Amino acid sequence: MEQLLDAGTPAAQIVATGRDTDKLTGLAENGVTVRRADFADPSTLDAAFAGADALLLVSTTTVGERFDNARNAIDAAIRAGVSRIVYTSILNASTARMALADAHRRTEQYLRDSGSAFVILRNGWYLENYTDQLPVITQYQALLGSARDGRVSAASRSDLAAAAVAALSDDEHLGATYELGGAPFTLTELAATISDVLGTRIAYQDMSVADYTSALTSAGVPAEMAAAVADADAGLARGELFTDSDALAKLIGRPVTTAREALQVARQAQVSR
Ligand SMILES: NC(=O)c1ccc[n+]([C@@H]2O[C@H](COP(=O)([O-])OP(=O)(O)OC[C@H]3O[C@@H](n4cnc5c(N)ncnc54)[C@H](OP(=O)(O)O)[C@@H]3O)[C@@H](O)[C@H]2O)c1
Repeated sequence: MEQLLDAGTPAAQIVATGRDTDKLTGLAENGVTVRRADFADPSTLDAAFAGADALLLVSTTTVGERFDNARNAIDAAIRAGVSRIVYTSILNASTARMALADAHRRTEQYLRDSGSAFVILRNGWYLENYTDQLPVITQYQALLGSARDGRVSAASRSDLAAAAVAALSDDEHLGATYELGGAPFTLTELAATISDVLGTRIAYQDMSVADYTSALTSAGVPAEMAAAVADADAGLARGELFTDSDALAKLIGRPVTTAREALQVARQAQVSR
């Protein structure tokens, strides 16, 4: 949203939606229109999407409900007469076997069949999935996972958001499906970069999917999310979170943020807290 505003879109032309509009008061204070929308309740969507010209559809957070939610949102956007729908999918959605890819694959197909103009952004794994772990990594001196020696083309949320702004703004992207990722690395390589940034040795500890799931649940991650994350790491091991596409850099018009840069920023934030 900040990047849409920074790109010069007037706040009065932006509508932000969510189930809990209290979370959006900061945006309302900046002049963005805030409306309640629950994708699980289609009766809320006609009013929420009224007058919209373009929809950025971010998949919702409850894993088992994602496809139904996305279908309801696409149907409502078409009823509202939008001229494009931009959907944030996952890398390699058409071939990835990880459980998280299933709803994305079904949503992509539904969107392609819907008749609406679209842009599909197959977002890579967030660098923040790793940088957010820095406190725990520091505490245990280890990065855990079940990714083996697979390579992950992770990218920052900020770069992926900038790509979404481009997809919303430029007609040249209509009908495209983009694989969006940054410079790839293995988790062993990531542990070496973290070691450099922290100035202390961090080892990558590879474990079975079952053991990694248990480690995540022991650390307080909800069971469903822990299973999804460990299963995604197994997909990473199979190459499902890798891309050699340069579409992200092209869409945002600058080099993609590297893991080292993201770790340095996260480390700085950690020490100044
Ligand atoms: N690439 C990656 O590494 C990665 C990592 C994490 C997530 N993701 C993807 O990104 C998506 C968003 O994740 P996030 O971490 O950005 O989550 P987030 O910050 O919690 O954003 C999710 C948004 O969806 C809204 N929402 C959730 N359920 C909704 C519903 N039923 N109806 C309408 N709005 C709803 C939430 O607002 P309210 O709660 O107010 O409704 C919130 O604004 C995930 O679903 C996943 O597909 C990708």
